[in-house]
Amino acid sequence: MIRRMKLGEEGNIRALLARLSYEDQTFWRKQAKRLEEYLSDSSKIPISEEIKGKNIILVAEEDSEIVGLCWCTIVDRGIDKQGEIAEFYVEKEYRGRNVGAELMAAAKQLFINEQVEVAFAWTHHGNETAIKLYKNEGFKEVDQLVMALVLSTKNRIQRHA
Ligand SMILES: CC(C)(COP(=O)(O)OP(=O)(O)OC[C@H]1O[C@@H](n2cnc3c(N)ncnc32)[C@H](O)[C@@H]1OP(=O)(O)O)[C@@H](O)C(=O)NCCC(=O)NCCS
Repeated sequence: MIRRMKLGEEGNIRALLARLSYEDQTFWRKQAKRLEEYLSDSSKIPISEEIKGKNIILVAEEDSEIVGLCWCTIVDRGIDKQGEIAEFYVEKEYRGRNVGAELMAAAKQLFINEQVEVAFAWTHHGNETAIKLYKNEGFKEVDQLVMALVLSTKNRIQRHA
């Protein structure tokens, strides 16, 4: 049976999250922290249905035109605060003139100001320009495998119609 977590079960959930962090560190942060430390820290993990999030769209303006954007999302899940570069684009005629680098530097500063703990950027293998710009700001390739479940956008479109 699959069901939603009930009130009062936060302790069980915290213990599972602690074990996940413990097992995950081998693949992710490569730290050596003992399970007992994760379990003791887990009492402080806030568990709530509420999340706070924002979309912040940074734009680059040149010649009074918007020529590029960096769409950043910030989600405060309670347990942590995560940022993401959701969209990143510079008009073709303006590429190679540092616009992308400036947008990315502003995005990083935004994440710092917002006290984001970890920020993600998705791109395709081979997008060397984007990869270089992310790396310039300190993003590192991680060995996590990203899997995508692509579902219909019909509901979203109907909601906005
Ligand atoms: C990625 C993108 C936003 C970069 O914008 P931009 O304004 O051209 O970027 P910049 O001019 O600031 O910087 C480009 C950097 O990449 C470098 N670069 C360009 N082509 C490169 C290539 N093939 N390999 C490696 N580096 C490359 C440039 O030398 C420059 O680095 P430098 O400043 O150290 O010299 C832009 O190319 C774009 O909109 N691409 C299509 C959409 C896209 O791919 N978005 C990212 C999705 S994750």
